[in-house]
This record gives sequence, structure tokens and C-alpha cells, in this order.
Amino acid sequence: MGTLVSNTPVISIQEDFLPLQGTDYVEFYVGNAKQAAHFYKTAFGFQSLAYAGPETGMKDRASYAVRQNKLTFVFTTPLRSQNAMADHIYRHGDGVKILALKVDDATEAWKQTTARGGKTYQEPHILKDAHGEVVVSGICTYGETVHLFVERKNYEGVFLPGYRKWESEYNPADTGLLYVDHCVGNVGWNQMNRWVNFYEEVMGFRNILTFDDNDISTEYSALMSKVMSNGNGFVKFPINEPAEGKKKSQVEEYLDYYDGEGCQHVALATNNIVNTVTDLQSRGIEFLKVPSSYYDELLERVGHIDEDLEPLKQLGILVDRDEEGYLLQIFTKPVEDRPTLFFEIIQRKGAKSFGKGNFKALFEAIEREQELRGNL
Ligand code: FE2
Repeated sequence: MGTLVSNTPVISIQEDFLPLQGTDYVEFYVGNAKQAAHFYKTAFGFQSLAYAGPETGMKDRASYAVRQNKLTFVFTTPLRSQNAMADHIYRHGDGVKILALKVDDATEAWKQTTARGGKTYQEPHILKDAHGEVVVSGICTYGETVHLFVERKNYEGVFLPGYRKWESEYNPADTGLLYVDHCVGNVGWNQMNRWVNFYEEVMGFRNILTFDDNDISTEYSALMSKVMSNGNGFVKFPINEPAEGKKKSQVEEYLDYYDGEGCQHVALATNNIVNTVTDLQSRGIEFLKVPSSYYDELLERVGHIDEDLEPLKQLGILVDRDEEGYLLQIFTKPVEDRPTLFFEIIQRKGAKSFGKGNFKALFEAIEREQELRGNL
């Protein structure tokens, strides 16, 4: 065999210093983890996965992990007052604390990110049990939210050391939710570019889309948004900041009620949004509704779609198209009493964008809800 000689000059490909395999789990700090886990099983179709608490040696908390396909949610509550978890809930209400990312090397992930200015949340440490070991490290992001890096290649247990399998007789059917498509952060006035820089410099993400206040404004309120993506596109974090309008921006309402920056919504992917949303609605999940006139000119705007229009209209599912295809999406109302965290259900049919064509109709729907709360 001869040697292949290439005359092509060597092009230096910028190496991804933080290779991410995707979202590992999302952890919520909540006032009552037992009831939250029940709600996500009943209403969203998650299955019991693992439990940690005093019975497993975790004296200060109870944590319930639930799973649906590649989606893992953890609900954690402190068992006593006067600690960081309790303070978090007192200040923010129920919300996302941890966006955990799956990595091959959690020590290296921590070294790379902290060397670039990331603030340590947890130094790399090993969690062990009879099923192997997991290395975890973490850095702080916006507000009190954190990114954990989870290296689980030497672990065969059900979730994490410290947890035991959660066997339950109560197993509602799933709703077809598959994985985290993206997680959106709301940050304060003039803070968007600071966090865009953080994701670029500390985590090696790229800004793949930008929406200014002309893209995202209604008659009354506005926001700006930049979408940050990691190298392989598995992890996407849009960052929103409020913009000046005649009335209060939805991002500002969030910041007031969350008492600071935090995760605004988590988008959950499905392969059949009509079936998923039919299921979710029948289980009591409430969605934002756009006026039925939205559907009058929908097909003129987005062209041919595979789905029948009638069920989309019945359910309130929105459609948008970009150069690569189209997407279907719908947004829940906030899932707690504070107007803070909500979920998006999304089905992508080629489109890699975020539904810009729906922003106006959607934000008008959000404003109708804000007005009912007296916050517009
Ligand atoms: Fe979204």
C-alpha cells in the first residue's frame, strides 16, 4: 500500500474544548418534591426512576428523579429551613436550579471552563456506590442557576450514587416527550451580551441566531434574544433580556416574580406533537392560546405541511418555516403560581430555528395573561 500524500495545506480546525454529549438532567428546587414528581408523572407522563433522601443517606433533602425517553427531571426539596436550598425556594419559588450536561471528562470540563473565567460551583469530585462512580463538577451561570458536568462512563446504576431505584405501582403512560430541545434563560436589563460572552468565552458556544426588539415586539412590550449553541448543536441556550416598550415586558415580569435571573422555559421535543399535546391537555396541562384567526392565513405563510390544519387549530399548535423546513410548537402556561417557568413542546420537521414567525401572536397571548394578573 502506498502512502497517501496530500498537497492540501493543513487547516487548523478549532478544537471544541468543551465537548458535550447533550443534556444529562434538569434539576428543580421545589417546595414539595413528592408532589412535584407526582405532577410530572401524572400530567407529563414521566416514569419513576430514582429516589434519594434520609433513607439513602441524604439527610438534608429528598430528591425524586423521573424519566421519559432521554428526558430526566429531578425534583429536590430541603427537609429543613436555613440552608441554600430553602433560601433558593424562598426567593425564587419553584424553579430550575441545575442544567446538567453530559461530558466524557468532568474534570477537564471544569478545568477548561474555569481557566476561561467560569466561576466554580463544585470542584470535580467522585460519587461512588456499588454500581461504579460518577465524576461531577460545576460552574455558575445566570442568576443562581448552575451547569453541572456529569461524567458517568464508569457507572451502571439507575441514576447517580446516593439514589436508589424508585419502584412505583403508579405508572401513567408517557406522552411521547423525547429530549430537551433547548433551555431559555431570562437575564436582566442590558445583561444579554454579558451572558452571550460567557457562553462564547467560557463554554465555547456560538451565537447562531439573534432577535432584536423589532423581531420580538407587540404594540406593548418587547424583548431581545440571542441563541447560543455548543459545537455539535446538542445543547442550545437562548438568552432573553427585556426591551423598552409601552408596557411591561414578559421578561421583566419574570424577573420581578423569580426575583432575579433564571430559566424561563425548557423546550421538550416530540415526534408527534398532535398526539403529545392531545394527551397533555387531557391530563390538565394548560396552554397559551392564540386567536383562531392565526390559522386563517397559516398555510399561505408556511406553505404545505404534513399535518391536518383542524387538529392544530383545535389544540392551538403554532407552525413556522425557515430555509431548512418547518417546526410545530406550543407553550404551556406557567406551571407554578408565580408567572415564571413554563414549558414549550416542539416538533421539528427540518427547521432548526425557534419560531420567529409566531413571536407576535404568541407574545400577544402572553400579554393577555399578564393583563389578567395585573402585570402589563
Ligand atoms: Fe423556546
